[in-house]
This record gives sequence, C-alpha cells and structure tokens, in this order.
Amino acid sequence: MAKRALITGITGQDGSYLAEFLLSRGYQVHGIIRRASTFNTRRIDHIYQDPHNPEASLVLHYGDLSSSEQLTNLIYNIQPEEIYHLGAQSHVRVSFEMPEYTGNITALGTTRLLEAIRRSGIKTHFYQASSSEMFGNAPAPQNENTPFQPRSPYGAAKVYAYWITVNYREAYRLFCCNGVLFNHESPRRGETFVTRKITRAVAHILAGKQKKLFLGNLESKRDWGYAPEYVEAMWRMLQQERPDDYVLGTGEPHSVKEFLAAAFGYVGLDWKEWVEMDPKYLRPTEVDLLIADTAKARQKLSWEPKIRFEELVRIMIDADMEAEGLVPVGEGVAILRSRFPDWHQWGNAVTLAVQSAQGQALE
Ligand code: NAP
Ligand code: GDD
Repeated sequence: MAKRALITGITGQDGSYLAEFLLSRGYQVHGIIRRASTFNTRRIDHIYQDPHNPEASLVLHYGDLSSSEQLTNLIYNIQPEEIYHLGAQSHVRVSFEMPEYTGNITALGTTRLLEAIRRSGIKTHFYQASSSEMFGNAPAPQNENTPFQPRSPYGAAKVYAYWITVNYREAYRLFCCNGVLFNHESPRRGETFVTRKITRAVAHILAGKQKKLFLGNLESKRDWGYAPEYVEAMWRMLQQERPDDYVLGTGEPHSVKEFLAAAFGYVGLDWKEWVEMDPKYLRPTEVDLLIADTAKARQKLSWEPKIRFEELVRIMIDADMEAEGLVPVGEGVAILRSRFPDWHQWGNAVTLAVQSAQGQALE
C-alpha cells in the first residue's frame, strides 16, 4: 500500500513542490485547500487528478487552520503516516497589520493539528515549518542552538509553534520535527515577497508594462536558497530514526541591493534607474542579517543545497520573462552563441540584443 501524506498549505510555494516530490516517490498525497470564490490551486493544477478516479494519488480536501473540528476529522479519516504542516499566514510585513490573525493561524494552527494527532491516537510523523525569522536579532550565523529573538508578530507566532511542537514531542512522545528554514525562493514564490517582486518587475519592465519598482529596506541580508531543494530535506527529516530539529539554508548572505543588482544586471539594466523607495514597505522592526549554519543537516540528513544565489536569480528571471512571452535570457544567449561564436566579446550588449531581437525597445 502506498504511504499516505497530508500537506497543509499544499497550494503554497513549498506545498506544491513537496506534493510533486512525494508523488514521485509513490505516496498518496492528501492536501488541505481553503475554500475561495475563485480557483486558488494554480501552483498544483499541473498535478491535479480527477477525484472520481478511485486510484487518484492526489486528493484535495477543504479545510482551514482556524477550525480544529475540520482538522481532527481529516486526520482521523485519512490516518496519514506523515503530516507536513506548511500552511500559515507567511508574510512578515502583513503580520504587523494582522497580528491577531497571524497568531491564530500561524501559531494556534499548529496546536490544533498536534492536538488532533494526539486525540486520534494515530502514529504519524509530523513536520513543522519553522522559520529563520524566529532568530530576529540573534547574532549570525544561526544554528539549532541559537536562542530566538523574534522581531515580528509572524516571528513570534512561529516561535510559539516551534515550542509547542517540541512540547508534544516531549510530553506525548509524538514524532515531531522542526525544520528551521532560511528564505527559499523559486518561480512559484508569492508575488509580494521581495525576490519575486523584483524578478517579476524586471520582466514587466522589459515587456513595457511597468515603469518603476517601489521597495522598502534594501540593506537587510537574507540567506536565499532554491525551494525545490528544501522540500526534499523536509522529507528526509521525517525518515530519520528519531525526531529532531534542523536548520536549512545556504550559508551565503546577500542584501536586497545585491539581489537587485544581480536581477537587473542579468538583463543589462541598471537597477538604480528603475527602483524607488516607498516607506510603506518598511517594517516597524526589521531583521538585518540571517545566515544559516547547516552543519547538522549536512551531517545527519546528508543535505547540501546546490543552487546558489546567481543561479537562483537567473532561474527566477528566466521564468518571469517566459511568463511575459519574452525569450528567457539564458535561451536568448544560447541562440546568439550558436549564431555568433565570438558573442562573449560583446559583454552586456548581448542581453540588449536579446531584447531587441524580441522587438522590445526600452525607453
Ligand atoms: P506560502 O506560499 O505563503 O503558502 C502558504 C500556504 O498556507 C498556502 O497554501 C495558503 O493557502 C495556506 N494557508 C494560509 N492560511 C491558511 C489557513 N487559514 N488555512 C489553511 N491554509 C492556509 O508559503 P511558503 O513559502 O510555501 O512557505 C511554507 C511554510 O514555510 C509557511 O508556514 C512559511 O511560514 C514557512 N517558511 C517559509 C519560508 C520561505 O522562505 N518560503 C522560510 C521559512 C519558513 P492559500 O494558497 O489559499 O493562500
Ligand atoms: N516583501 C517585501 N517587499 N520585502 C521587502 C521590500 C518589499 O517591497 N522591500 C524591501 N524588502 C525587504 C524586507 O524588509 C526584508 O528585509 C527582505 O526584503 C525580505 O523580505 P521578504 O521577501 O518579505 O521575506 P522575509 O525574510 O521577510 O520572510 C520570508 O522568509 C522567512 C524566513 O526567514 C517569508 O517567506 C517568511 O514566511 C519566512 O519565514
């Protein structure tokens, strides 16, 4: 019989990659989605399966992290061997505007799930999506022993969820793990997180749809990795003999400014000509520097991220350009290289040539 996994937040960035990963390993995947007046399953449409098929290996259920009744019923009926709890109000700046809601979903949502597991009596392995945002002001690099100093309602809610997970592990001997993940991005990243906001803006600028990009603090530094690599490590945590907590990241910090320079530079533009500051994107308290120390994950999970900063930026820009109907830069350069063997002597002119080949005149 196929192993059953339940994913909360399956419609999110990580949930969609994790569902793909588990399906590829032969799991029957159950996902909780929120009822909405329009379709909200865009990230998992490509793996959707007809619910009338009794053999379907992807099954979606309506539910909400605010309702324990619903979560208890789902866990009791599905009896999953593994539960990946990824659902959350996950936006840090929004958490300053909605602190109570963030606490209810991001913090108490975890308690509701753990309590449903405990009451149902099922034997399952539980993954809690903890966050480097919990470290807040703690000195970098941060690892599993670094004390938390959260700087946002979101960070505080995740600290609560982290400790309630540890508590259920100790009090009830449940198999519960915290994955303390540093920022991880992809073409499926939500459009209001800074990396995707930037790569999408670059594509929009090239497509003539956007004239300015408004941002907040450009000085903060994050440890940005590639999301598909991180979901595999979540699975590895639940395959260990004993439950434990692990930090995941690249160990490489970059500022928002560096991300801007890499993203705009990739298409031959100077970010300073396109970016303006809007104080509305500043946070009342900011996390300045996050750097992961991943020695434990490397040793115990044999996990090492391969995609580094520059490549991550290129993957995201190319995907956003393709979505705009533009030839991705990587592909455009390959075409030029095949036609003009000495192309590399042209430097940045190459990317401008790609744009003009697409008929995209920049003002
Ligand atoms: P995301 O793209 O924002 O996805 C969040 C998911 O949670 C979505 O599926 C969303 O559903 C669902 N959700 C939100 N409120 C809910 C509710 N009340 N009931 C049920 N589901 C609800 O987040 P992500 O980037 O994939 O991150 C996954 C998890 O890891 C989150 O818990 C996040 O806080 C945590 N995390 C993320 C990172 C990162 O860099 N990405 C780093 C550390 C930790 P809708 O699609 O309907 O909105
Ligand atoms: N979102 C956003 N929008 N951030 C901006 C902007 C802007 O216009 N301008 C500057 N920033 C800065 C933020 O102030 C922050 O310092 C940095 O860019 C990254 O912001 P986000 O991309 O929103 O990510 P985050 O680090 O706050 O939170 C993400 O990572 C956490 C892990 O550390 C989220 O994915 C969280 O869910 C996750 O836990």
